[in-house]
Amino acid sequence: MTTVLVAGGAGYIGTHTTVALVEKGFDVVCVDNYSNSSPEALKRVEQIIGKPVRAYEGDLRDEELLDQIFTENNIDWVIHFAGMKAVGESVEKPLEYYDNNVGGALVLLRSMRRHGVKKIIFSSSATVYGDPQTLPITEETPAAQATNPYGWTKVFEEQILTDLHRADPDWTVVLLRYFNPVGAHESGLIGEDPKGIPANLTPYVAKVAIGELDKVNVFGDDYNTADGTGVRDYIHVMDLAQGHVAAASNINKTGVYVYNLGTGHGYSVLEVIKAYEKAVGKAIPYVIQPRRDGDVASSYADASKAQHDLHWQARYTMDDMAATSMNWQQNNPHGYQK
Ligand code: NAD
Ligand code: UD1
Repeated sequence: MTTVLVAGGAGYIGTHTTVALVEKGFDVVCVDNYSNSSPEALKRVEQIIGKPVRAYEGDLRDEELLDQIFTENNIDWVIHFAGMKAVGESVEKPLEYYDNNVGGALVLLRSMRRHGVKKIIFSSSATVYGDPQTLPITEETPAAQATNPYGWTKVFEEQILTDLHRADPDWTVVLLRYFNPVGAHESGLIGEDPKGIPANLTPYVAKVAIGELDKVNVFGDDYNTADGTGVRDYIHVMDLAQGHVAAASNINKTGVYVYNLGTGHGYSVLEVIKAYEKAVGKAIPYVIQPRRDGDVASSYADASKAQHDLHWQARYTMDDMAATSMNWQQNNPHGYQK
């Protein structure tokens, strides 16, 4: 049996990926410091998969803990989700972001090397493409273009992993560049649980839909897009989870592999709001605001490389994303807090 260490396994994408891995027959071990999640999330995962999850509580920068994990378990692959991800916060706290994200990756990689584990899947982001000159975005589109410290941590981590493979070709490095993950597991037991007022569009819309927030602020309606609002490639989190399963199942040679994980379709902010209105059967109030600093007009993937190499393709529609997101939100208005 293939054993995967899921770092950041209690988080939004980590929980859904753990479910997908276990359902595909992988053995999973998690490590998380619960800085942006809670042990309750893993209890919910256990409810879905019907068995316990082996979980370690602690920080990725704790080298002794990692030694213990790699000694106690026969790890084949590591999937590294354990990062901080709030763009605005990263501008305020660059040192904390570089320390946690880049520092965490360095400790993890050193520990992996010590224990002879040399296969890693890394959570990168479409943010590394910056403001792309051409659409759709392929893996050949110039990257290393971040506009904020969060984005630079992704660029630096990609570079560190690439350099590591250059120095030791026995490594298998998979850089998955996610577009915009949305939605939740169909059970409604796990989902996205942002702390405070959400900075991202879909959790914000979900909170307006349940009446916790008044109205959606639409950041700009004067972009060069069909309806003037920003266009993004939203991808269902279970499709994203399956992308990791596909990578761990299909990549069996050393090397550095880069894949976009998106649907290949762009939706505008107003189209997203409409999908959520359909899911809840009522109007969702919104107001047009000025553009948000640092936003690009359009971003969507060419996802054909992952389809070709990994035999993976996104299956869920925007309506599925809105419906499962609302199912989670309505069943858990306070997220994992009871
Ligand atoms: P998340 O915050 O829900 O999950 C990250 C998990 O890692 C959390 O449970 C957190 O407690 C844990 N963690 C953070 N730092 C840690 C540390 N030093 N030691 C141990 N645990 C730690 O975020 P997510 O949405 O699941 O994202 C997972 C990864 O995917 C992140 O690296 C993120 O940057 C990347 N990503 C996310 C998105 C998105 O929109 N959600 C898009 C692109 C890339
Ligand atoms: C953001 C981050 C990106 C990160 C991704 C996933 C920025 C500039 N980029 O992407 O680095 O990888 O989240 O976490 O923050 N919008 C509104 N109203 C809102 C919120 C957003 O109109 O209240 C609009 C935005 O202008 C954008 C779209 O909705 O057009 C999506 O925004 P968001 O969900 O924040 O994701 P990104 O900006 O694409």
